[in-house]
Amino acid sequence: MKRIAVLTSGGDAPGMNACIRAVVLTAEHYNIEVIGYRHGYNGLLNQEYKVMSRDSVGNIMQAGGTVLRSARCLEFKTEAAAIKAAQNLDELEIEALLVIGGDGSFKGADHLSKFWDKQIIALPGTIDNDINGTDATIGYFTAIETALSSIDKVRDTADAFERIFLVEVMGRHAGFIGLSAAVSSGADQVLLPEIHNDSVKALQTIVGHIETARKIRGNTSYIVVVAENLWPGGVTALAQVLTERIKTDCRPVILGHVQRGGSPVTQDRLLATKLGAYAVEAAMAGKTNIMVGERNYKLVDVPLTETWANRKELDPYLVKIQTELFDITQSQLAKQLAD
Ligand code: F6P
Repeated sequence: MKRIAVLTSGGDAPGMNACIRAVVLTAEHYNIEVIGYRHGYNGLLNQEYKVMSRDSVGNIMQAGGTVLRSARCLEFKTEAAAIKAAQNLDELEIEALLVIGGDGSFKGADHLSKFWDKQIIALPGTIDNDINGTDATIGYFTAIETALSSIDKVRDTADAFERIFLVEVMGRHAGFIGLSAAVSSGADQVLLPEIHNDSVKALQTIVGHIETARKIRGNTSYIVVVAENLWPGGVTALAQVLTERIKTDCRPVILGHVQRGGSPVTQDRLLATKLGAYAVEAAMAGKTNIMVGERNYKLVDVPLTETWANRKELDPYLVKIQTELFDITQSQLAKQLAD
């Protein structure tokens, strides 16, 4: 194998740079040249690339974002775009394309595979962790850390005022960041798309929960972690509805894109490094149309289409801890109050 290409696509995730670095260093070890396409699939369509070397990946491991830049490329869904991309890859004599991104980027890679007869290896890079076949995705651990430290700060002011806060976290249509951040911050409640898919019921749950908690504890701080896209209008709208229902001020906090930034934590750097190196070796072994991932500390190859075929499940024991074992409204005291 003489030349491979790598690109980052979709929402950037902390650890993407560590992954690019691992690809370049591993390829260099095997004397393979690496072309880095810029701006995701857009760069592939416009032949916007740079030749990567050990020097071009020096000191990027600790940086968030992606030195190759990223983009969401709607045009790539068309047949014409995939054909153009295939021609561009062939023009540069690329033998394997490595795509670091989330499920949208993986679908793009699958689409390309219908028009390009060389190898495609996908690497899971998204804060959402919503990719089947790998325990975690690159960027997920850093995003939880960021959400967690923000919720800890919200808790300080919430405690001082004995206030209710609704904190919105990212995850697109998945509750991985929400659940992990809620459990590790000791949030009073969490609203997740996997559990609360009916907004009317979600509101009833939240109101009942706050009322019971206040009966037991009196007026204390109260934090609800809310997954984005769950409530129409987000936590700002939900806080208004809730304020009217319980006649107490509720404050919304949207963590937003801060969750995508920052220096990757150790777990993300290690995962990114392993997957980047392994992807190059997988390409050398002739593998294609797979995602490389990690399950139970073992590197695995997952057929690309399986990565989005089923919804990835939340950790059921974490759900039990948050919604049953540690939930004050499920306590003996709450049961006695209800009798
Ligand atoms: O997929 C990563 C992600 O940050 C999601 O959590 C979020 O819903 C989305 O991207 C935001 O996308 P954009 O940056 O295009 O607004």
